[in-house]
Amino acid sequence: MSQRTVTIGLPAESKDRERRVALTPSAVHTQIERGHHVLVEAGAGDGAGFPDEEYASAGADVVDDVEEVWGCDVVVKVKEPQPSEHRHFRPDLTLFAYLHLAAAPELTDALLGSGIHAYAFETLEDRHGLPLLAPMSEIAGRAAAILGAAQLSSAQGGSGTLMGGAAGVPPAKAVVIGMGVAGTMAARGLRGLDAHVTGVDIDLQRLYDHHVNGTVDATQVSETTLVGSHVQEADLVIGAALVPGARAPTVVTEAQIAAMRPGSVVVDLAIDQGGCIETARPTSLSEPTYLEHGVVHYCVTNVPGQFPRTASAALSAAVAPRLLRLADDVASGRAGTSEESAMLAGARNVDDGTIVHSAVAAALPDRPTRLPEAG
Ligand SMILES: NC(=O)c1ccc[n+]([C@@H]2O[C@H](COP(=O)([O-])OP(=O)(O)OC[C@H]3O[C@@H](n4cnc5c(N)ncnc54)[C@H](O)[C@@H]3O)[C@@H](O)[C@H]2O)c1
Repeated sequence: MSQRTVTIGLPAESKDRERRVALTPSAVHTQIERGHHVLVEAGAGDGAGFPDEEYASAGADVVDDVEEVWGCDVVVKVKEPQPSEHRHFRPDLTLFAYLHLAAAPELTDALLGSGIHAYAFETLEDRHGLPLLAPMSEIAGRAAAILGAAQLSSAQGGSGTLMGGAAGVPPAKAVVIGMGVAGTMAARGLRGLDAHVTGVDIDLQRLYDHHVNGTVDATQVSETTLVGSHVQEADLVIGAALVPGARAPTVVTEAQIAAMRPGSVVVDLAIDQGGCIETARPTSLSEPTYLEHGVVHYCVTNVPGQFPRTASAALSAAVAPRLLRLADDVASGRAGTSEESAMLAGARNVDDGTIVHSAVAAALPDRPTRLPEAG
């Protein structure tokens, strides 16, 4: 098949303390073998332990000029473009990254105003689920158990409760809301620390599986009042509820947080979609926590960014094959008819000045929308 060469840009991440990179040198090599041309911003892989020389050896052009990288046909990156990057948007650019638009009206408006084609990692679905979100959810879930347990230390402003308790002293109580990928890994980590873990979900089949597999000590269907009674008793609450593409459902209310013991801890991973705990608001890796109603809130939107070596390798493995398809489709004028192309079409959030994803459109009404016909 002869097709035009597509240029792929890999910029350095600019979000606060974000050290991941979307493609490893070996994944870059795969794109180049396919006939594409890759431009890597100098230093893009440094934070994850991939020096410029490895990208150059893989066949990429390593350049200092960020304008050149963003001037490519396709730009692939990890986190949503920051305000300083919006100036790079243009109609003939295809962007492939985490976007989380349901909770980001300003970014959405910048994308809409530019005419760009924007594909979101987190809304790409296959028969197993969300293959580009899952690796980061796995890492964020594992990290949430460790970080949440550490925040309970009195040195961190927590209540001074140790997860596993001691002889004659019961273990700490943890509640995990949303027992998907992130919630499951968080629960496993907490069980590993010998905490008492209650798993909450709206999906009874999922709760049944966790119940029989022993991932948690107890399960609870997601109903506000019932969840509230567990939250009130909890030392640590981890939020990980997701409706793909949509703003996160509010599962825990402010009154329920206010009823928790002072020094208890909340980690809301769902904050990237707006948060599933009413008192949660986005924080950064530089300033990860704040206190509200005496409860420590950890609501960092890029938790895996602090584990860049593992997270970049895991993300790149998932992104690389989909990027190959996306670049091929761009090369052939987006005429892809394969199953993979159809999945990519489902990941498209904004196209030619309109929102084209139904959950994003529902979260952000009053914006130009063009939804695909229901099939
Ligand atoms: N903050 C971060 O750094 C970070 C990193 C990775 C993932 N995340 C986020 O973590 C969240 C979870 O991701 P995931 O991959 O585990 O999703 P997932 O789809 O695997 O699981 C989500 C779970 O939430 C459940 N759910 C939906 N509505 C619910 C409700 N009202 N009450 C209780 N449960 C409900 C679903 O049934 C499902 O089991 C997402 O918002 C994701 O973007 C955040």
